[in-house]
Amino acid sequence: MIPTDVTQYHYRAGQLHCEDVSLAALVKTYGTPLYVYSQQALQARVTELRQALGNSGHACYAVKANQTLGILRLFAENGLGADVTSGGELYLALHAGFAPQDILYSGVGKTETELRFAIETGLRAIHVESVPELQRIETLAAEYQRVVNIGVRVNPDIDVPTHPYISTGAKEHKFGVPPTEAVQLLMQAQLSPWLNPVGIASHIGSQIMSLKPFAAAAEFLAGLASELTGMGIALEYVDVGGGVGISYAGQEPIPLTDWINTIKAPIAEAGFSLAVEPGRSLVGPAGALLTEITYVKDNGHKQFAIADAGMNDLLRPTLYQAKHPLLPVQQSNNATVLYDVVGPICESGDFLAKGYVLPKVEQGDLLCVLQAGAYGFAMSSNYNGRLRAAEVLVNGDQVTMIRERETYADLVRLQ
Ligand code: LLP
Repeated sequence: MIPTDVTQYHYRAGQLHCEDVSLAALVKTYGTPLYVYSQQALQARVTELRQALGNSGHACYAVKANQTLGILRLFAENGLGADVTSGGELYLALHAGFAPQDILYSGVGKTETELRFAIETGLRAIHVESVPELQRIETLAAEYQRVVNIGVRVNPDIDVPTHPYISTGAKEHKFGVPPTEAVQLLMQAQLSPWLNPVGIASHIGSQIMSLKPFAAAAEFLAGLASELTGMGIALEYVDVGGGVGISYAGQEPIPLTDWINTIKAPIAEAGFSLAVEPGRSLVGPAGALLTEITYVKDNGHKQFAIADAGMNDLLRPTLYQAKHPLLPVQQSNNATVLYDVVGPICESGDFLAKGYVLPKVEQGDLLCVLQAGAYGFAMSSNYNGRLRAAEVLVNGDQVTMIRERETYADLVRLQ
């Protein structure tokens, strides 16, 4: 079944299409494994987000979700800022055309080299996550004789219903600083001639399918920002972090408009501009991974559909037990079979789906893994000497290759 938040993938005459392009035709030209993105789906998400925000704030796309330049450029052209988490992401964002004043820099372990790059570039703000980090930024700012905009990432201690690896806003997590320390850091910044405190931020986690924790975070941050105003620290924005989750396994999707409406009220009432850093919800539903079945194998106990994409291409099922929807590219009336859809990699953790019901497949059949646009290619690797996939962007009946498939030469290029 195609989740309702996946909008540009549909069957036409029994053939799965992305917009007006047949996925089977794409595979003939570009091979597998292949990442496909719908430009119209990407644009529709951005439009919805920007309309919901109106003039109440700004959205910085979380580059970590998908750092491919073709995607970044599209978001930059469509008026988003960027949220980066490393010097590499900052480099990519600048390369893609995001203006420095539209870039936020988050991350718990920014190195001196990375901070120098950020200060030399002059960003909207660096989000500080510890006492020694603020110290380091102040020292560097003095060295450069430049006033640096900073925000502080607060850990609001809000537990969220998601996978433990991607829950980030509770006390046991490494992220942000406790509220009292955030106030101290902002005071320190206020008193420094080299630091300009402009915002507070939090990020409570990813793939959250409920609005409640977002409402709690927004109210908490709005309250804290107002307290700071009372102390003479006039912040410009309150950043509520990443976006809502998407429908991987039949969950009811949360419209971006509902999410923004939930968080913008308390922040607007307190008189601040809202900032958000969505990644997954912008790019996830627009992307799919195409793979060909190399073999079908029955070991007398289980049926394995062995795909030519594995955990190096899409790590999410292995790392987070994520359940992505799988569809046959050619619709079939075959009787259904329970498959473990696995990759070619030499470990049992290498699977795209376990115990998945599909119409009987054969060697050479194509499968489409939906909801793969976020944290898909971005987390891929060369493990097992595998070449990273190509990526294409579909717009109507037009196809643009936005990343070439790697070659064997790429495996030895830097060695
Ligand atoms: N802002 C910050 C500071 C973040 O750490 C993250 C994600 C985001 C924004 C974007 O959150 P989103 O809107 O995408 O939920 N690899 C994992 C997801 C890790 C997310 C980490 N931080 C996965 O595949 O599920």
